[in-house]
Amino acid sequence: MTIHIGAEPQDIAETVLMPGDPYRARWAAETFLEDVKLVNEVRGMLGYTGTWKGNRVTIQGSGMGMPSLSIYANELIRDLGAKTLIRIGSCGAMQEAVQLRDVILAMTASTISTPSKGFFKELNFAPCADYGLLQAAWASAQAKGTRVHAGGIYSADVFYDERPDLNEQMTRHGILAVEMEAAELYTVAARYGCRALAVLTVSDHLLRHEALPSADRQSSFGEMVEIALEAAFA
Ligand code: HPA
Repeated sequence: MTIHIGAEPQDIAETVLMPGDPYRARWAAETFLEDVKLVNEVRGMLGYTGTWKGNRVTIQGSGMGMPSLSIYANELIRDLGAKTLIRIGSCGAMQEAVQLRDVILAMTASTISTPSKGFFKELNFAPCADYGLLQAAWASAQAKGTRVHAGGIYSADVFYDERPDLNEQMTRHGILAVEMEAAELYTVAARYGCRALAVLTVSDHLLRHEALPSADRQSSFGEMVEIALEAAFA
């Protein structure tokens, strides 16, 4: 048991998928896993462990934003034995070439700050994805015929952003999309020698002011779960 996860180490698999939304964790576990067991419901942040093609997997909600994700990633790794952590979530596109429903694999994530920033002092640490996971996720997306992009993203601290000038600079520098968790996931994973990746689906478009209807979100989310599982066990 940890402060925020009511599970023992044997309840948690070495591979953990982390959606922001705990209900998405439940849906993904019920849809894709076999022999599913609820392993956490502290604060309603649902976590499930089951098997996918014979491989043990935990799907644990992370909540929204880096401070929340940081709590779950730290406890999963430090106390519960997680070794491979894959965020599955949504993002807002920041490039014209990216479309709604496209999948983005975050090679790296720029930030203003992460919960880990205090460790680094003057250093601008560059959080980066595990290359093996990234390569396997790319191959999986290509095989499905999914439109996929790999590149830099922005992990923001605020959803209701007041810095259009900063977004313009990121678009100019090729940042593909914005979300709110990946940079801290990559940083915590790096600290403990774990593998991490963020597989994201484009739910809205900042330049075109478009958003995916909620009915379409479920199918995009399902595709992402499959890509994450295939990458984890490639
Ligand atoms: N901003 C931050 N996080 C997001 C967005 C966004 O526009 N869309 C999906 N996650």
